[in-house]
Amino acid sequence: MCGIVGYVGKNKAAPLILEGLKRLEYRGYDSAGIAVWQNGGFTVAKKVGRVANLEGEAARHRLTGTFGMGHTRWATHGGVTDENAHPHVSSDGQVALIHNGVIENYVGMKKFLVERGYGFRSETDTEVLCNLIAYHLAKEPAAEEGESRFVSAVRKTLRHAEGTYGIVVMWTGAPGELVTARKGSPLILGVGDGESLVASDVAAIVSRTQSVVYLKDGEIAHLTPSAFSITTLNAGEVAPVIDKVTWSITDAELNGYAHFMEKEIFEQPAALENAMRGRFSEDGSTANFGGLNLTASEFRGIDRFQFCACGTALHACMVTEHLMERFARVPVECDYASEFRYRNMPLNRNTLFFVMSQSGETIDTLAAMREAKRKGFKVLAVNNVVGSTIAREADGGIYQHVGPEVGVASTKAFTSQLLIGAMLALYVGRLRDMSFADGVEFAHALKGAPDLVRQALQQAEHIKGIARRYAHHRDMLFLGRLSLFPIALEGALKLKEISYIHAEGYPAAEMKHGPIALVSEECPSVFLVSSGEMFNKVLSSMQEIKARKGKVIAVATADCQLPDGLADEVIRIPACHEAVLPIVATIPVQLLSYYIAVELGRDVDKPRNLAKSVTVE
Ligand code: AGP
Repeated sequence: MCGIVGYVGKNKAAPLILEGLKRLEYRGYDSAGIAVWQNGGFTVAKKVGRVANLEGEAARHRLTGTFGMGHTRWATHGGVTDENAHPHVSSDGQVALIHNGVIENYVGMKKFLVERGYGFRSETDTEVLCNLIAYHLAKEPAAEEGESRFVSAVRKTLRHAEGTYGIVVMWTGAPGELVTARKGSPLILGVGDGESLVASDVAAIVSRTQSVVYLKDGEIAHLTPSAFSITTLNAGEVAPVIDKVTWSITDAELNGYAHFMEKEIFEQPAALENAMRGRFSEDGSTANFGGLNLTASEFRGIDRFQFCACGTALHACMVTEHLMERFARVPVECDYASEFRYRNMPLNRNTLFFVMSQSGETIDTLAAMREAKRKGFKVLAVNNVVGSTIAREADGGIYQHVGPEVGVASTKAFTSQLLIGAMLALYVGRLRDMSFADGVEFAHALKGAPDLVRQALQQAEHIKGIARRYAHHRDMLFLGRLSLFPIALEGALKLKEISYIHAEGYPAAEMKHGPIALVSEECPSVFLVSSGEMFNKVLSSMQEIKARKGKVIAVATADCQLPDGLADEVIRIPACHEAVLPIVATIPVQLLSYYIAVELGRDVDKPRNLAKSVTVE
């Protein structure tokens, strides 16, 4: 939550910062603000709403300075007001600061500062940080030997701060310098040509440089246009590792699509190809993963898998659970990461943990992972963002390799997680009782997933028509069985988050134990149907809905014979192997949600109240 950009260099800072903020808007869009150094002081502009609102305000201030910082906010402490927008400036006017995270002990810090004459203008937790830095700068005019006074004051402040932060700080005593630090909130340094940058996400700086340093928790960086240095909270020196970003700015642009969500839905065939590239054995009977850091025999010794994740990623874990139990015959548990952490579950010694997270920064998932590691378990991560906190702290893992996902509603990251989950089932299955022939058949089916998804995408126009007819409904049910039950949950989540229509996902048979009370002409049900063992049972559930005048939208594989008149709308998907079915069945529910949201005029890529990566508990 919240996006941060800082720039020091030879170019005008404001346009670069505003451009960066637009690319970070998915992280929060309650308000935005910018501070630029000019005429011997900070010029600050802040505005409730989107970065576009801030642009007008910034233009009024004629920002010409070459160093500054900007912030886009997802509100935690304090309402959505101009005063609560960042940057905040200390009451003595000496320090400006932007912050992503939560300072949990801000009340005590505030009391300390108020008693010493510091004033507060906002209701935020953040404002204590800039005042405390100002306090240290005023109190200790000399720095420790060899230490920048600016860095020293930030370090002293952060030693008192409990909670999470990614901050960027400017000080009137150090024009042309930025100090930035992190604990629990991501920050990436950009090493440019005569310029240095810092941001919450590579997307904000990749147009300036592809050389980046992933700052770690407990590190403080000092940036000037031509150099940067990193130390720890304990004043230890850090030798930075410069990484190269492998994607370019065009990957994070709309390229002709109306929304990132639309672009990312249609990118899925290519995304799946990227996620599986080089990951099948030469004999075609199993999957290979480079970064698991566990030998096959160690994997063979695992007798239980525990998956933790949040939101959409948890739905991918639930499908993985089904496939691993069915095809690898190994017990698997899934839990909300936010619950797992506090549940204190009894766990077998031979349990292997997996977390799934597109961003690799979701704080609940990170906390669950740390709890499992603290208990001595190995944790592997399925993750899309290279260098993310989860990727770095995991004992090993599998990158999704689907490129940046910008739309707040996860789409291509989800289907690639489904693919990787299926590949894991294959890998673990082949270490256990899955035969060579079954392995080859399973792998062959997975390799066909991109083409099947291409075919499913051809239903887009048909689904658009259905969306127009159903967009006015206020409630919707999504129903499926076995591996299609998590896809029903995902369909309901997608619809809720981008269209604000109330939707619920259930196992189809469970519907009659309560949700059926919602059914009427006004509450349509989306059924996910495939041929096979559950087909007739799902048809019975459809009949129960029809008997109560409920409308039925069936997403059905091509080999399902649906009785005439049972479904009001039918969306056909290709018949396929069970391992691929959840991936293919996801496409229509994504498209249906997307077109309904467009029909309703919603802000598809930035739905209200949400943020792409949730870095507060
Ligand atoms: C997806 O559409 C949601 N916006 C959300 O549920 C998301 O999947 C969840 O916050 C987890 O994010 P992560 O994969 O980055 O950890």
